[in-house]
Amino acid sequence: MNIAVFCSGNGTNLQAIIGSWKKGHIKADIKLVVSDLPDCYALIRAKNAGIKTLVIERKNFKTKKDFEAEILKVLKRDNIDLIVLAGYMRILSGDFISAYENKILNIHPALLPSFKGAHGIRDAFEYGVKITGVTVHFVTKDMDAGPIILQSSVKATEDDTEETLAEAMHEEEHKVYPRAIQLFVDGKLKIEGRKVTILE
Ligand code: GRF
Repeated sequence: MNIAVFCSGNGTNLQAIIGSWKKGHIKADIKLVVSDLPDCYALIRAKNAGIKTLVIERKNFKTKKDFEAEILKVLKRDNIDLIVLAGYMRILSGDFISAYENKILNIHPALLPSFKGAHGIRDAFEYGVKITGVTVHFVTKDMDAGPIILQSSVKATEDDTEETLAEAMHEEEHKVYPRAIQLFVDGKLKIEGRKVTILE
């Protein structure tokens, strides 16, 4: 199985995924890291790990359709079977998602369906929740709404600042995301409607 990881930022989740892969826990090939930003740190992490990188910038295409067609072309060229979104800050169109139906994973920094959107950690912190957490889910055309694969909780204590909470959240993400990818690769995820069963 060939995996492409999509990133736009720091790439700490990518790093955790690479770590798990190098230890042999993810039995697939991480073939490609795709970014929409030429100077994000995730690209350096990929290069350091010897993974091919590709930058495809939205501004170089007239329409979103053309932009996504280019991405699909490179995915096809590398026989990519699974797309892992790891801090990729673009919303994929329904057509793109249909081309990889039930083959796109995302990690969201909140316990979905709470605190959807780009600021899950901050929104939960400002709301004053006592428990938040991370969610790995399949990507469907509705944002942050696909079938949930794994969730893990993180406590927000009275001493937490947004920064300390973010740190705890990232630590949890780095455990949960590689595990979810491993389950997918091992064929242990069965989707029925909204429900994902883990076949052990
Ligand atoms: C993570 O918090 C993830 O949940 C969200 O984007 C962030 C990416 O962080 N989707 P990093 O680039 O993996 O460090």
